[in-house]
Amino acid sequence: MTLAPGHESVEGAREDAPGILLTAGPPGGGCPYLRGATADQTNSQEGQRLRALGPAPVVELPGGVQARVVVDPGLAERLSAGPHVSRDAARHWPGFREGTRSVDGIIAAWIGTHNALNSYGEDHRQLRAPIAAALTRRRVEAMAPVIELIVHDVLDELNGLGAPEKIDLVEFYALPIPHRVITHLLGVPAQHLPAFSAAAAGLFDTSASAEDVGRSMGAVLAILDQLVVSAREHPEDNLVGDLVRAADASESPLSDTELRDQLMLIIIAGTETTVHAIGTLLVHLLGHPDQLALVTSGLASMEAALRESLRLRPPIAAVPLRFAVRQFQDARSGERFEEGEPILIHLAGANTDPETYADPEHFDVQRADGSRNLAFGHGPHVCPGAALATSEVVIAVTRFLDRYPDARLAVAPEDLPEPSSFISNGYTSIPGRLA
Ligand code: HEM
Repeated sequence: MTLAPGHESVEGAREDAPGILLTAGPPGGGCPYLRGATADQTNSQEGQRLRALGPAPVVELPGGVQARVVVDPGLAERLSAGPHVSRDAARHWPGFREGTRSVDGIIAAWIGTHNALNSYGEDHRQLRAPIAAALTRRRVEAMAPVIELIVHDVLDELNGLGAPEKIDLVEFYALPIPHRVITHLLGVPAQHLPAFSAAAAGLFDTSASAEDVGRSMGAVLAILDQLVVSAREHPEDNLVGDLVRAADASESPLSDTELRDQLMLIIIAGTETTVHAIGTLLVHLLGHPDQLALVTSGLASMEAALRESLRLRPPIAAVPLRFAVRQFQDARSGERFEEGEPILIHLAGANTDPETYADPEHFDVQRADGSRNLAFGHGPHVCPGAALATSEVVIAVTRFLDRYPDARLAVAPEDLPEPSSFISNGYTSIPGRLA
């Protein structure tokens, strides 16, 4: 069982409410640790356990940070969209900029970079605009044939492996596709790809030490520095070129470092998430032959199946971190937030809220109450890569099922390994049989 760094055992676990097993926080502190997926719970299940404590209970995160974890979908939407909550730690988390607050490890890695995700108000609009300009409908549409080719190549490589008894569908299918798509989009030289993949995966591991996270971050940033320098000299017709042109055209042009940090964000936000989205949709469909039949017969679309899959197991269970800009009270729920209080929107918990979704843990591609959900976020920070990701996953899973109509999982879905994380949510390995 993996816990947050420094919390080596579950001894001291307590019953906070009937049926709720949470790990007790520090002596005297009393709030539970947010453990993320472990051998005995998924992120959604942890979300539901926390839900029994209220719409936004206090939890402890790695590094001793106490945060309100928001598991109620309505409150999550209102906080994500409203002006009272910021993602900018430097401006809205007292002590962070001054260095009087000690934050390390995974939380520091997520909030320490100045990029679109970690900004607020006008600053956010300026940093996001070049990214949105580089992920336009035109570029996403232009990518569709490229994605088809990439998927075709990866399927041929699978074929080339012969007829192995079992194959890991993450390593040989879900993982190469988003990495090749992002590499193509950015124009990353192929020789940098393995370093990218390893370092990006390290950034999502909430059980990694502060040193390991720092090392992963450094490796990715070094590669991106090179990309920015060459794009400044020769901006090409790729995402980096678009980003450089849009950034130069803005009222306050971005520095090389700011550009690099936006690229870092796109890579981190766009690869591991899509790997999990492909893997999870495969698991949901192969694990539910009745639902797969609805899709293959055309009674439900692959897009609807993806929405439902993202609802049930969003690739990002929670994205660190937001802060209350001022003291305020949410009128609907009555929840009160103190100025500077850290807030973690728990997408996995909100997406399986029993008051919003009937039988929330059930995978139903024709869900009567709809599969509208928070997997891509909500409000000004809503994922600008959602259309690209949807196109990638739909093409990848559709073509896989066309090529291997008799494919099946080699182990039960509940036995598949998951990242020990409250951020990254999916499967690290999916043993499958192709025929
Ligand atoms: C299925 C795959 C994906 C999922 C589930 C996903 C999910 C998310 C979520 C939850 C957020 C944070 C929203 C918030 O805090 O309110 C986000 C932000 C972001 N995503 Fe995605 N994402 C995916 C794919 C992509 C792709 C393919 C790209 C780009 C190539 C991308 C780029 C970004 C960026 C740049 C942000 C930050 C936007 C901002 O803060 O303004 N994402 N994504």
